[in-house]
Amino acid sequence: MSPILEVEHLSAAIGGQQVIEDITFTVPATGVTAVLGRNGVGKTSTIKAVLGLIGRSGKVVFDGARIDREDTHRIVRRGIGYVPEDREVFGSLTVAENLRLAERDAAPRRDLVAALFPDLVKRSGQRAGTLSGGQQQMLSLARALLNDNRLLLVDEPTKGLAPKIVTEVAEALEEAARTVPILLVEQNLPVIERLAEGAVVVDSGRVVHTGPARDLLADPDAVQRLLGVHADTAGTVAAAAATPTPGDAAATAPEGAK
Ligand SMILES: Nc1ncnc2c1ncn2[C@@H]1O[C@H](COP(=O)(O)OP(=O)(O)OP(=O)(O)O)[C@@H](O)[C@H]1O
Ligand SMILES: [Mg+2]
Repeated sequence: MSPILEVEHLSAAIGGQQVIEDITFTVPATGVTAVLGRNGVGKTSTIKAVLGLIGRSGKVVFDGARIDREDTHRIVRRGIGYVPEDREVFGSLTVAENLRLAERDAAPRRDLVAALFPDLVKRSGQRAGTLSGGQQQMLSLARALLNDNRLLLVDEPTKGLAPKIVTEVAEALEEAARTVPILLVEQNLPVIERLAEGAVVVDSGRVVHTGPARDLLADPDAVQRLLGVHADTAGTVAAAAATPTPGDAAATAPEGAK
């Protein structure tokens, strides 16, 4: 089966600053492919460059078509769903309103979303701003699943969530991955171990490793070298070992505190 996404020599700059240099990888048409890497190495920028949200150069092929010169709205219409790092739900709107706004297709998959997220159905009249971090993450994921996407780009969905909620989000992603391939930026190694077949490791704006996620996680030296964490205690150490940045305070806040 040909890959759903092919990225070749992708570079991008934000405000004149090079944020990714030379990103090359492919995403198979099924399952979860993980993008890993320390804080600030260019994981989010890679996703934004694929979507055309930041100026980029290089080659991006989605489902056989070049999309590296296209505008974001065209790319999204081709069937790429985006679940951003900070979730970006409309806090003053209800859950139902957030979902309705996300409907792009003539026949949105409301039944699938309702089956995957019964809690959101119960909370359809609740303002999204009053949801916990985990519930907002489910809402953000639900918005992307409403449309008949052929690829989801999901950026750090478990960041800042309590362990129990991390498990719930991982379960939702696992279910979602049965219907659509997912490119998943994730730092939580147990989540990667559970979900991902392929792994792409980014460092300083470049891809420094690609291969089966299983093989990477089974190699403590490689995990230490590429990610700076110990594989055996990765779940807790991954967050602790990451270099703290001012914007990262929320990542250590209790789930739902934002
Ligand atoms: N809006 C911006 N303006 C200037 N520099 C930026 C901007 N956004 C990101 N950068 C820089 O680009 C580099 C890559 O950032 P990016 O957000 O892609 O990394 P990341 O791997 O997603 O990090 P994190 O793990 O913290 O989410 C970093 O050095 C960052 O400081
Ligand atoms: Mg990021």
